[in-house]
Amino acid sequence: SLVTTTEMFKKAYEGGYAIGAFNVNNMEIIQGITEAAKEEKAPLILQVSAGARKYANHTYLVKLVEAAIQETGLPIALHLDHGDTFELCKSCIDGGFSSVMIDGSHHSFEENIKLTKQVVDYAHDKGVTVEGELGRLAGIEDAVNVSDKDAAFTDPDEVEEFVKRTGVDSLAIAIGTSHGAFKFKGEAKLRFDILEEVQKRLPGFPIVLHGASSVMPEYVEIINKFGGSMPGAKGVPEDMLRQAAKMAVCKINIDSDLRLAMTATIRKYFAENPSHFDPRQYLGPARTAIKEVVKHKLVNVLGCNGKA
Ligand code: G3H
Ligand code: 13P
Ligand code: ZN
Ligand code: NA
Repeated sequence: SLVTTTEMFKKAYEGGYAIGAFNVNNMEIIQGITEAAKEEKAPLILQVSAGARKYANHTYLVKLVEAAIQETGLPIALHLDHGDTFELCKSCIDGGFSSVMIDGSHHSFEENIKLTKQVVDYAHDKGVTVEGELGRLAGIEDAVNVSDKDAAFTDPDEVEEFVKRTGVDSLAIAIGTSHGAFKFKGEAKLRFDILEEVQKRLPGFPIVLHGASSVMPEYVEIINKFGGSMPGAKGVPEDMLRQAAKMAVCKINIDSDLRLAMTATIRKYFAENPSHFDPRQYLGPARTAIKEVVKHKLVNVLGCNGKA
């Protein structure tokens, strides 16, 4: 059955590694991720955004994740990604999720605390864990749209009070990452000094890194080669992610890398097989590509292989 993030974060913190939190939208994505985790014996967080829930339907996603648990026997948390209202969080908690994020980062500090605490009170009563966020990431996604000028690094002076007053189980911080495939115009830079200060203020407390795709160049290249156009796509260098995983970061969010692997594989397949039209012929290799990306992340970036 589903697990919360409590035990996995405790072990990740102590072991100096991070759990992969991968966004899921359909069966092939869920299968690719969970087959990789099974082979690598890795604990997993599968996360669902409001957009994913709208696309695939809450019940379908829950049942697919239940099937993955039955097939793999792994500890898997089913987590709401970027919940923006109490009602959305409540709906996911009532509907079987084991963890939720309430992202109040676009509100004032006091409003963020009030909303987050409301979700924590409801969630903890039902044995569900909660991720909060302080600071704002830049980036363009369906539901998450913050322009560069509205982005703001997390203020380490606020984290203790936020965690104490809300009771959250983990905290997402903004240190220079952003959502999507275009994260840096020039050189990639993360504020590790902020992460260090946060971990000093919150000893032993699990930190979450959003926007952590590395935008793997091999897949961007395939996309551009086979009719796509993504000039200047750039992600977080994997060295930086490895560094964060050794520190207080216990959850690393990855979505864009899965999208790119899937899209690259399907573009290439169509270019090379113009007469094929059976979805299994292109979704199969796309699922395999996701599996390969996830294996690479678990083993070479997160360090959570063998920890399940
Ligand atoms: O944080 C954003 C995730 O990549 C999910 O994106 O809202 O388009 O499903 P989405
Ligand atoms: P990426 O766009 O870097 O994959 O980030 C995903 C994320 O943070 C989901 O919440
Ligand atoms: Zn995010
Ligand atoms: Na860590």
